[in-house]
Amino acid sequence: MKKRKKIITVAIDSPAAAGAGTQAKLIAKHYNLLYLDTGKIYRLFGKIRLNNKENFTYKLVKKEIKNLKFKDLDKKELLNDNVAVSASIIAKNFEIRKIIKKFQLKCAFNPPRNFVGSVLDGRDITSVIMKKAMFKFYITANLKIRAKRRHLEFKKLKKKISYKEVLKSLKNRDYLDKNRKYSPLKKTKDSILINTTKLSKKACFMKIKTIMDKKLQFNGNL
Ligand code: C5P
Repeated sequence: MKKRKKIITVAIDSPAAAGAGTQAKLIAKHYNLLYLDTGKIYRLFGKIRLNNKENFTYKLVKKEIKNLKFKDLDKKELLNDNVAVSASIIAKNFEIRKIIKKFQLKCAFNPPRNFVGSVLDGRDITSVIMKKAMFKFYITANLKIRAKRRHLEFKKLKKKISYKEVLKSLKNRDYLDKNRKYSPLKKTKDSILINTTKLSKKACFMKIKTIMDKKLQFNGNL
């Protein structure tokens, strides 16, 4: 088999609703990269736990991850706020993180050959999963702005949740994600900080694209 050229790898971490998913999708489309929203995997298991607390075991997580298909991550029900909270509860567990890690590594470093690389976003991508990624970004925004954006998304999906509830839930998840023992959310020293509070989606992407193109041109990837 023909040896593969060095792939483009992009790692993104962010607190919830900071715009990382939007940017990751734009990056994936522009550079032809595989995109994995790792939060969706935690949400999927968070949902399974909500449906069936007694039968939620490591064995079950192992079995489910073996059969995991990308389309399983597209389910609308994964967007619910109670699913996100359940995801952040199971995400504290080291064993569960370990099982999920394998799937993420495969997507990150061995994406299908029709892609020239990968972009993953989550909470521990720059610090654990893709420490050696070619590009590392930490995307953030002020809490109230994030709550406003997430509330608008819920409204569009016709989900009944108030702005205050969204704000409280994001604050709670920020706390859980930043203060847990294993793989807490943090900005690594080598990640580039992108604050989206006052930036439009396009302006934010242009900032990221400028950074990426400079290095890719230098490396001969572009
Ligand atoms: O990104 P999203 O908000 O969908 O993630 C849901 C939850 O999954 C997060 O609050 C976090 O607790 C967990 N998560 C994680 N590590 C990741 C991605 C998500 O712990 N890489």
